[in-house]
Amino acid sequence: MKSLTDVNAILQRASELEDAGSWEEVISLLTQSNRQQENTEIESRLIRARHQAFLARADNAPSGSWPDTVADLFPDVSGIPEIQASELTATAVTSAIQHHGSLLVRGLVSEQNAENIRHAMEVTLETKASLGDEIFKSAKPWYKPYSSETSDTLNIDRVVFKNMDVDVVLTVDSPRTLFRQLEALGRAGVIDTLREYFGESVAISASKSTIRRTSPDTPTAWHQDGTYLGENIRALNIWTAYSPCGVDAAGLDIVAQPLTDLIQPDGGEYYDQSVSDDTAASFGVGKIVRPVFNVGDAILFDQLSLHRTGVDTSMTKTRHAIEMWFFAASTFPDNQLPLSV
Ligand SMILES: [Fe+2]
Repeated sequence: MKSLTDVNAILQRASELEDAGSWEEVISLLTQSNRQQENTEIESRLIRARHQAFLARADNAPSGSWPDTVADLFPDVSGIPEIQASELTATAVTSAIQHHGSLLVRGLVSEQNAENIRHAMEVTLETKASLGDEIFKSAKPWYKPYSSETSDTLNIDRVVFKNMDVDVVLTVDSPRTLFRQLEALGRAGVIDTLREYFGESVAISASKSTIRRTSPDTPTAWHQDGTYLGENIRALNIWTAYSPCGVDAAGLDIVAQPLTDLIQPDGGEYYDQSVSDDTAASFGVGKIVRPVFNVGDAILFDQLSLHRTGVDTSMTKTRHAIEMWFFAASTFPDNQLPLSV
C-alpha cells in the first residue's frame, strides 16, 4: 500500500507540473499512481487536471468534412449492428452510426472491471442517499462533489436531479467511479478509438456523464440529446450497462436508423423537448429496438439518435448504467463542463 508520504510526494510533483502547465504529464503521473493504489486525493486532483488540460489544449479547429463517408459494414442488419469488444474500430463506429444510427458492443467492459465499477456505483449511490439534502457535502472516498471555479453548471445539475428524485450521481462527483470507468474504457481501446473517430483530441462532459440506478416505474419520453447539447457538434454517447437490462429491468428504446436533423418536439408530457410516441412510431414498428444488455455491454449513439428509457409495466428489477458523453474537443458545447480524456 502506498504510504501517505508517497502520496504527498506525488501531489508535490503534480503541483510542480501544474505550475509548469504540463497538464498531460499531471494526468499521466496521477493515473499511474492511482493504478497502483486508489487514493481520493489523487483521484480528485486528476479531475481538476483533466479540466485544466482541456482549457490549456492547443487550438485544433475541426476539419471541414467529418465524418468520412464509409461503406456499410452491416448491410444485412435492419436493427442495431452488434460487434464484440475486440472488433471495435473507428471505422466500425463510423459505419454503424452513419448507416444505422447506433452500435451495440458486447462485453466492452470486462467482467472483472464491471464488477468493480458496479460496486463503486452502488456504494456511491448509497453514500449520496445517506447525505439526504446535503448534496454539496463530501463523504469520501465515494462522494465528493467537484467544484469548478469556472462554471456553476454542475450545481444546477445536482439540484435538478435532487428535485426529480432520481438515483443519479454525476461521475465527476464520485472520482473513484469515474477513474474506474475511464480506466475500463481505456483498456477496451475506447479512448484511442474515439480519438481516431473524431480525428482530434477528446473530452467528456462532467455534467453529461452520470451514474444511474433506474427503477421500473421511472417516467420516460422520446428525445434527442442534441436538443440541449447542440445539433451541429461531434459527439458520441457511450452507455454501459452494469446490470442485465432490457427484459426485467429498464433498458433503452432506440430508433435504429441514422437521423440527420433534430425533430420538432411534440411530446411535452414529461419535458418540453420530448418527441411523441406517434412521431417515434412513424419510423416504423421494426425500427424501434429495445436491445437486451448483459453486464459490460455498451451502446454507442450520437446527439441525433432518437431514444428513451425502455421500460414497461412487466419489469420488476432495477437497472444500473453509466452514461458518458464524449466530444471532439473543438466542438465541445458551451453549456457543458469539459474534462480531457
Ligand atoms: Fe438521452
